[in-house]
Amino acid sequence: MLNDWNVFWGLRVAECPCDVHFVEWLEETGVTGKTIYHFGSGGHHYVGIRCAEPELDNAVLSITASTPEYEAFLKLAKEQPALLHHYSCYFGDIYTSNAKLLPMFDVVTLFHSCEFRNEKNDAYGALTDLEVMELFVDRLNPGGHILFYTGSFAYAGAEPLIAELETTRPIEKVGLFKTLLVYRKRA
Ligand SMILES: C[S@@+](CC[C@H](N)C(=O)[O-])C[C@H]1O[C@@H](n2cnc3c(N)ncnc32)[C@H](O)[C@@H]1O
Repeated sequence: MLNDWNVFWGLRVAECPCDVHFVEWLEETGVTGKTIYHFGSGGHHYVGIRCAEPELDNAVLSITASTPEYEAFLKLAKEQPALLHHYSCYFGDIYTSNAKLLPMFDVVTLFHSCEFRNEKNDAYGALTDLEVMELFVDRLNPGGHILFYTGSFAYAGAEPLIAELETTRPIEKVGLFKTLLVYRKRA
């Protein structure tokens, strides 16, 4: 059985500000007109909705492993079809990602690295957290950015993997933006 996450996560900025900080990072660094992969849409779909605004004008593909969050996307799509020019969300397990099904991105968020993967994923040969990080760096355009969330309850697990990623992939640390750790893929 799929290791899904059957929770509807509303926007809880005090508890989990990563998506709001991400949109602030996009605004403050002037990231517009780019292609973004977002791990963990939430039931609020905040990143996709905000990126569709003309000031940001980014195209976002997000993933959710939650049926109610995906249903919230279906409702949005039906009620606000113009949003679909900029935003799509799919249901799945990021640990089954296949590079052949993914375009190249300018920005990737892996905020929930190490939060959800466990032995249930092993049962269907899922990728590890490091393999997901490597796959998404490979799907990044040169000069593109990959971001991690230092406020994650699983950040202590992700941190050594990010250090290993620096040795296996051509990325360099840009620095911290609020709770987010920003890396750039070398051009
Ligand atoms: C705690 S919520 C955070 C949502 C949003 N990023 C936020 O901060 O408000 C975790 C998100 O990760 C997604 N998720 C959990 N396990 C996943 C998996 N294996 N593959 C893809 N998404 C997953 C959930 O569906 C949910 O959208």
